[in-house]
Order: sequence, then C-alpha cells, then structure tokens
Amino acid sequence: MTTDYDKIAREYQESKLQPWRTHIEQYTLLSLASQVQGLQTLDLACGEGYYTRLLRRLGAEPITGVDLSMGMIELALSQEKSEPLGIQYCVGDARAMDFGATSDLVFAAYLLNYASNYQELLSMCEAIARNLKPGGRFVTVNNNPNDPPSNFETGRIYGYSKRLQGSLQEGAPIIWSFHLPEGTVEVTNYYLSMVTLERALQAAGLTNVIWHKPKVSPEGLRQWGESHWDAFLSNSPVTFFECTKR
Ligand SMILES: C[S@@+](CC[C@H](N)C(=O)[O-])C[C@H]1O[C@@H](n2cnc3c(N)ncnc32)[C@H](O)[C@@H]1O
Repeated sequence: MTTDYDKIAREYQESKLQPWRTHIEQYTLLSLASQVQGLQTLDLACGEGYYTRLLRRLGAEPITGVDLSMGMIELALSQEKSEPLGIQYCVGDARAMDFGATSDLVFAAYLLNYASNYQELLSMCEAIARNLKPGGRFVTVNNNPNDPPSNFETGRIYGYSKRLQGSLQEGAPIIWSFHLPEGTVEVTNYYLSMVTLERALQAAGLTNVIWHKPKVSPEGLRQWGESHWDAFLSNSPVTFFECTKR
C-alpha cells in the first residue's frame, strides 16, 4: 500500500530542506496547529519526527510519533538520543493505533494520501477519531486531489515534480519526485477525490472540515520575493485541512 521509506529514509529527510517545505508546508501546518502548549498530541506517519519535534518545541506534551517505517523511526530515535525532548516513538500502522480517546490533537503530515481506496482511507480516519478526545482536532496536509496533471511539472522550479500512472481515477498512483543535489528520490501516493475524503471523515465522526489554502511565511516572502511563490500558490500540489471529533 505504501512507499518503503526504509530504503529512502535519509533522502526523504533531505527533501524536508527544500524551501517550499519550510516556508509553505511547515508555516501553514504550524499556523493551523496553532496553540499546542500542553496538548496531548499524536503524530501519525511521523517519519523521522520532523513535525513531532517542532510540535514538542512549541509545547505539545505528551507527544507520541508513530510510523510504519523502522528506518524512519530509527532516524527519529537517533535525534531524540542526541537532543532529548521527551518524545515517544513507535513503529506501527496508524490504522491499528489505539491509545484510547486521549489526544487533544492528532497531527498527520502525508498519511491520508497513502490510502489507495475508500476502505483504507476510512480505517485511517477511524484511527484518528478513536485516538481523539471528543472536541479534539485533527490537522493534516496531503497531496492535493484538485491539482490537475497538466500542472505536475510546475513544481520543478521548487525542486519537485509529480506524475500520474494511468488515468486520474480513484486509487491511481501519483508519483512525487524530489530533485535533490544528490539525485532524485521518489514516493508514491494515491489519488482519492475530495468527495471521497469528506465521506470517510464524516463516516468516522470527524466533522467541521475546514480546507485551508497554503500560506507563505514572511521569511519566505522576504528571502525569495512574492512572485517566486506564484506558481505554487495558483495550483498548490498539496492541500491542508483541519477537522474536529464529534
Ligand atoms: C511523506 S512521509 C511524511 C513523514 C512526516 N510526516 C513528515 O512530514 O516529514 C510519509 C510517511 O508516512 C508513513 N506511512 C505511510 N503509511 C502509513 C501507515 N499506514 N501508518 C503509519 N505510517 C505510515 C511512511 O512510512 C512515511 O514515513
């Protein structure tokens, strides 16, 4: 169902250094997460802990990161060892996680786009709901299903491109390439429409879905200039949303 991140853990970590990651992805996600001080937080598909550490540094506590890839969790643990922040990490499938309804915030950067059909998506959404307290929030970023394939090469100026395998239908693989100084690393996501996403969220008891447009950080505007980000913002490759457990 998913890219084997064990094989590309370090390269994927490198891709997080691309300027759009910091100035758009991170800036928008952390704005959405907002005040996290003292919030019990679960970071699903945490990878090497990029956002787990950022949320912890912003005061989220206690915080647990979960990822399917042992290679990614090893990278997270080695950073926790060199700079202890008190984060718990575990290897596991997000869909099977059950810490009880104890989290104020469930965060997941690029989990849902690993579902290749409605059932997989629903079980991810059910796991999110299962771990949230009533009224708790879910914050996420994923591949943007409304980004048209005609736009898939536009990202090259920012260091990535996408390609579609087959035709644009539910479950179609979308391959992201990150063009890094050492070479290109690829990860495969799956296309599921916004309608399918909203249906699964609702069925899992996640309501008040608010879609957010990407925002550029003031630093990103200053450093790169406003027009640099125009192509990204006019057809964003990723989409952000938040919702609440009923
Ligand atoms: C694109 S990476 C994002 C990592 C991290 N959230 C970040 O933004 O840096 C996607 C991650 O999702 C993980 N993943 C995919 N399917 C998963 C699942 N069902 N349960 C837990 N992790 C999963 C992969 O192992 C990978 O580390």
